Amino acid sequence: MNAATDKPRVLTGDTPTGSLHLGHYVGSLENRIAMQDEYDCYFLIANVHALTTRADRTADVRRDTLEIVKDWISVGMDPNKSTFVLQSEVPAIAELTWYFAMLLGYGRLMQNPTLKDEIVVKGKADSYSFGFLLYPVGQIADILAFRPACVPVGEDQVPHIEMCREIAARFNILYCTETAQQKGSMEKKLKRAMAEGVEGVFPIPEAKVGRIARLTGIDGKQKMSKSLGNAIFLADEPKAVQKKINKVFTGRGSMDDPPIVEGNTVLEYLRAFCRDESKVAELTERYSASDLRDGDLKKEVGTIVNELLEPVRTRRDGLADDDAIDVLKSGTARANAVAEQTLHLAKQAMKYNFFARDLAWR
Ligand code: TRP
Repeated sequence: MNAATDKPRVLTGDTPTGSLHLGHYVGSLENRIAMQDEYDCYFLIANVHALTTRADRTADVRRDTLEIVKDWISVGMDPNKSTFVLQSEVPAIAELTWYFAMLLGYGRLMQNPTLKDEIVVKGKADSYSFGFLLYPVGQIADILAFRPACVPVGEDQVPHIEMCREIAARFNILYCTETAQQKGSMEKKLKRAMAEGVEGVFPIPEAKVGRIARLTGIDGKQKMSKSLGNAIFLADEPKAVQKKINKVFTGRGSMDDPPIVEGNTVLEYLRAFCRDESKVAELTERYSASDLRDGDLKKEVGTIVNELLEPVRTRRDGLADDDAIDVLKSGTARANAVAEQTLHLAKQAMKYNFFARDLAWR
């Protein structure tokens, strides 16, 4: 809870790997926009994590960082309601990463399915950096630095939130309950804490997965992703959007074959982006009855997606790099106030508050 606003806190973030796309929209962005009034939202740009794959391309990461801020604002995340946080300028996150890393077994980390997957997908074999293995712990620090009630994320991030919940509980058991350091099995206490909650510095935050956990890409097969080259970006021009949708395979080999409804990616987009339920039903029905051809359906869906993206494009046009930097600067200042307090509370619980910190540099 934030004392100043009385609203429960929310924290989530994106790694700046390039522009955001429609998969992000239905998987997470939409949730964030909806939560801004009821929650005290912190939206973090994981620009340190971006270095796990691009330590040699910091200028690119810098550019992508500013592009994400512009994407966020243009989609309706509002820096006047919410706090935009630049990860690299919140030192408490880096410090908490150390303490949390001590509470996570190496074996447990390597069982994390998202991490395992990334090792395979990114073709790293065993050549990944040590920092790459550290990023899920860094993510736990991103989250817990803000002591949020809830973390809206895409489905692929849920294993990280699970680990975060365990670490929060472990910290509370170990440092915030009197007898924890002396007796009883940690594993038993952890089990009970995960089920019943446990008092302490950290809440055990809930993951909140978006309306559509997995949006198929325009290849009609894999999950929409920038790196797979199958994405429709929020910043795509109307013509590019229509062109991409025109290319989507509807599942049938020729127009003489009957229309395929199950697993048809164009219909999936219709359901994902058309807010008028009766229109979804009507178009689906006409398509099934061969009363609407593939090309017509694609035109309809292209128009629907473009209507959704129109205000996003307009807002984006007016945004410069300096606007993005201003928003990050003021947001990160607010964020540091919260994160420093968390670090203070954590150290106090650990009995590591040897003396008050008074750092300054000019
Ligand atoms: N790992 C997340 C992703 O790639 C980004 C992220 C970093 C994040 N820190 C976070 C998400 C904290 C939620 C909470 O999408």
